[in-house]
Amino acid sequence: MDAHESVTELIGNTPLLRLRMPGGGRGPAVYGKLEYLSVGGSVKDRIGLRMIEQAERDGLLLPGGTVVEASSGNTGLGLALVAATKGYRAVVVVTDRVSGEKVAALRAFGAEVVFKPAGVPREHPEHPFNAAARIAEETPGGWCAGQYDNPANPEAHYLTTGPEIWRQTEGRITHLVSCVGTGGTISGTGRYLKEVSGGSVQVIGADPASSVYSGGDGRPYFIEAAGHWRHPETVEDVWPRSYHQDVVDRVLPVADRDSVLTVRRLAREQGLLVGGSSGTAVAAARQVAAEAPEEAVVVVILPDSGRQYLSKYFDDTWLLRLGFLDGDESGARVGDAVAATVRERPVPYLNGRTTVADALAALQNRRDGGEQAVLPAGPCPAGPGRRPTAPELAGSVVLDGLRAAVETGRAALGDPVGDHLAAPLPQFGSGEPAEAALAELADSGVDTAVVLHDGHAVALICSAELRACLPVGKSRRP
Ligand SMILES: Cc1ncc(COP(=O)(O)O)c(C=O)c1O
Repeated sequence: MDAHESVTELIGNTPLLRLRMPGGGRGPAVYGKLEYLSVGGSVKDRIGLRMIEQAERDGLLLPGGTVVEASSGNTGLGLALVAATKGYRAVVVVTDRVSGEKVAALRAFGAEVVFKPAGVPREHPEHPFNAAARIAEETPGGWCAGQYDNPANPEAHYLTTGPEIWRQTEGRITHLVSCVGTGGTISGTGRYLKEVSGGSVQVIGADPASSVYSGGDGRPYFIEAAGHWRHPETVEDVWPRSYHQDVVDRVLPVADRDSVLTVRRLAREQGLLVGGSSGTAVAAARQVAAEAPEEAVVVVILPDSGRQYLSKYFDDTWLLRLGFLDGDESGARVGDAVAATVRERPVPYLNGRTTVADALAALQNRRDGGEQAVLPAGPCPAGPGRRPTAPELAGSVVLDGLRAAVETGRAALGDPVGDHLAAPLPQFGSGEPAEAALAELADSGVDTAVVLHDGHAVALICSAELRACLPVGKSRRP
């Protein structure tokens, strides 16, 4: 019979699909490697299997043991599915920004999901990496997979993804394009392809624009699982050992808007429902193809399915609220009010480690008539059903509130201001209708909001500025 004995035999061996690229068939062929067709739904099934089998060989994981991992979801899923088939318990530590669909899938495989806050520095004991290591240590028979530093991660791709692509393209691949998260995919696949081609295959990383891998400033971004952001309070920024930079020829930055619009188009125009990092990778592949000779063969890794992100990249309201899309309604938009604001009010950031005394001084210097607010960077949770918020906005500091805290002894001048944050200010996407934003701002109890464009805070705005951009009849309303 043509049948398999174990679900793990259905990991990998994913197909290549020729992607339609701009240019109507002219230019190099670009093939997507459809990792969502692996049995667990992502590229990470491969490393789930490899890391567990290696740990068994090394005697680190014994029968009845517990597999622990900090994961944005896919590696957790890959590990959970392999653990399920082998009778291990699985504990997956995720941040509270991970999509709800991924969490539900983890639980479906019987994994326990532990939530940790997304916006903490690497050194913080509650950082998912530290929490996972601690759980593994405290659990009898516990083993932490540690994909960021585990050699079995790139090795899985060296042994499977690379040879598959070489075989599928009959050795004609000239360019590999892959996102870089832990770096395992690009390092293992790229190393194999470079070796087998005598060094001729070009290996190109695709990276969210503010990720540090492509030289960004480390601000958080909206593409799950790709890139590397840096919390402003992280003291030492450690890059994963699974990322072998020597294999990578260059890393291209891709704006979140480009990634998001690309995955939406792949679904609508090519029937391909893939996740946000696939959008990043395809956008980079488009650039690679535009610069490559006609006879080049570009392979781009599409790590997972769009089904996990239906409430994000494929949800118009989510995108509208973060400033990635404009609303359908005619009439003034929040972004018009920003453009019309005579006095520019850029978002004043403070680092959470700044002392209360320095924060007060900065706020006093900036006082310019409107309610004043400063927003330390660092992700904050976006719970289901709530408005999505920019990951870089952890909270707000309002001059009067901070002064009152000092006067009443709740805050000391030497305290880090991050310990005295007020709730984040209301946030509106630049394409949202101004009138609705005005009404929501009135209900919020504060008079200052943050305007988001492409997921980032671009301006502070108050109700008078919003009202001023409405047609005369409406602007007169209180
Ligand atoms: C959806 C998605 N895209 C991209 C990546 C990056 O792959 P790697 O960690 O191998 O660099 C991951 C890794 O978790 C992922 O889950």
